[in-house]
Amino acid sequence: MPKLNENYKKLQNNYLFAEIARRVNEFTSENPDKPVIRLGIGDVTKPLTKSALKALHEGVDMEGSSDTFQGYGPEQGYAFLREAISDYYKRNGVEVDADAVFISDGAKSDTGNITELFAKDNVILVPDPVYPVYVDTNTMDGKEIIYMNGTEENHFLPMPDESVKADIIYLCSPNNPTGACYNKEQLKEWVDYALKNQAVILFDSAYEAFVSDPELPRSIYAIEGARKCAIEFCSLSKTAGFTGTRCSYTIVPKELVFTDSNGEELSLHGMWNRRQSTKYNGTAFLIQHGAAAVFTEEGMKECQENIDYYMENARIISDMLKKKGIWYTGGENSPYIWFKCPGNMDSWEFFDYLLEKAQIVGTPGAGFGKNGKNYFRLTSFGKHESTREAMKRFDELF
Ligand code: MLT
Repeated sequence: MPKLNENYKKLQNNYLFAEIARRVNEFTSENPDKPVIRLGIGDVTKPLTKSALKALHEGVDMEGSSDTFQGYGPEQGYAFLREAISDYYKRNGVEVDADAVFISDGAKSDTGNITELFAKDNVILVPDPVYPVYVDTNTMDGKEIIYMNGTEENHFLPMPDESVKADIIYLCSPNNPTGACYNKEQLKEWVDYALKNQAVILFDSAYEAFVSDPELPRSIYAIEGARKCAIEFCSLSKTAGFTGTRCSYTIVPKELVFTDSNGEELSLHGMWNRRQSTKYNGTAFLIQHGAAAVFTEEGMKECQENIDYYMENARIISDMLKKKGIWYTGGENSPYIWFKCPGNMDSWEFFDYLLEKAQIVGTPGAGFGKNGKNYFRLTSFGKHESTREAMKRFDELF
């Protein structure tokens, strides 16, 4: 009889967004005449940009011709895309070697898979509230997680505490779920903490493209020393509407070298390379061909137009919260708006209330951790019309 990984018993029954989908499906099947507006999961609604689409078509055609057909590709990703990403960083003032870039199918997969590189007895430091994947994947591994509190007082941006000795630290900025962004000084404190404590920062920058304030860092590598202590995860999901198409990248600098239990040096870059070559056969060629077009000048311009469109939704939502005097954060430099549930409701209560009374779907803060108990997240990834309609219903309700 197999001995099962009983750490799975420690997980909640459903992944957060699966639970939301279950509740919404139940509601819509009981109320087929009440159309629901979905501002819950951060899924984009604008189609792929022209440049990406053209390149995807070209990629399909290349696979159909014996002169250009591609079989197995490099597990790390094609050089053309790794170089395009390295150039993209350079244009944003950050040096990242193309060799350090690993192409993948999602920041969710990579932030989950990276846990394999670390032994069980590490102390994992995770903010609360937090993207549930970091917690669930470490729980599946049976690793010890400690939390740092994100609260209104610290603007949901927890800072290092010297009395806590963490080995692995998860940070996400612009943050999911709160939309809060670390500034350079704050990230520098985290990098200094990691270097001093020989910790690794796992930095999720999936929402970097939404940063419009030039003073805010879009990559942890904008901070000196970060290449010695940080892995960065990024994705084309939100930047370029690839939530269905799937393409992401993880940066593992060669400078990330630690001493193992025998006193020998081990490179995280080497380990991740070994992991990916063994367990991953690379992102589809045609997807990478499409992704490379995102990083061209024209491609970036088109993505920016879509981001501006979503940020207009963020403005519509933020304006309504302001009008109602409801405390909120995010909505600037981030597609997420995080606010205090009105009427002292807790977040699941508020979720049900909003669904029943106004047919708006959001994400209850409790799904991101105990500090989210009285908060709620809306996304700006809807269409203008539905976001406006949702805020009209919100206005009538409160
Ligand atoms: C979210 O809504 O938090 C995100 O869409 C989840 C994800 O990117 O996996």
